[in-house]
Amino acid sequence: MIDLHCHILPGIDDGPETIDEAVDMCRIASADGIKTIVATPHFNPGTYENSSEKVFRLIDELGAKAKERGIDVRILPGADVSVTPELPAYLKKEEYLTINRTGRYFLAEFPAASAPPGWDMFLLSILNSGTIPVITHPERNLWFLEHPNSLYDVVKKGVMVQVTAMSITGDLGEDIQKFSIYLLKHNLAHVIASDAHSATYRQPLLSHAVRMAGDVIGKERAYALVTSIPAAIIEGRHVSLPELIEPVGQKKRWLQRV
Ligand SMILES: [Fe+2]
Repeated sequence: MIDLHCHILPGIDDGPETIDEAVDMCRIASADGIKTIVATPHFNPGTYENSSEKVFRLIDELGAKAKERGIDVRILPGADVSVTPELPAYLKKEEYLTINRTGRYFLAEFPAASAPPGWDMFLLSILNSGTIPVITHPERNLWFLEHPNSLYDVVKKGVMVQVTAMSITGDLGEDIQKFSIYLLKHNLAHVIASDAHSATYRQPLLSHAVRMAGDVIGKERAYALVTSIPAAIIEGRHVSLPELIEPVGQKKRWLQRV
């Protein structure tokens, strides 16, 4: 499996503080069947602004340490990029902000409870310039929970969506779990990733979530969200998105209740 979203580099954001903890995270991921981890530290101008040079150096150090301790994982560069007006300029400036430096896909993170006005047109303008946004965990964002149809509009045009493993397993609460299942059922989720931050409370685990997603959308489709789709993303290849299933009847009423 591939974990496309993981805060695993030490001392660089709110992820692990030490290289030993980062190596522990590699061990946990590997034991869960994860062979490739995209290291995605936060990037937010003024708060988290690491250079490509620093990120690449930490990836080399962590990869070497994991190998030394017999852990079989590949670590690739990426970032969890906050959606801010400066985004297009930074995407050109810092190589690590697109996944695996291909210039093709990037993780787009919104604030926890809101989406800035005009966010959809903003992301579509970046998409039209050739870099595909992958919205991270909208199921954990109150605004998206209240406006699920806004995801339809951008996904139809080619924007992608990543759902967090712990959202699917119910570890982040029932409403978040229900919305994750809604996204899976309607083909609004294209990737499952851990968004891990530590070796203890937010771990790099995917297998449980994939099994649960399999109960909803079938094993093969669930598995694709942690294998073939993220594989295409890290190689900068085109992904054919599945046709969206429009909300009807019961599902729509459930969303209105939430
Ligand atoms: Fe994240």
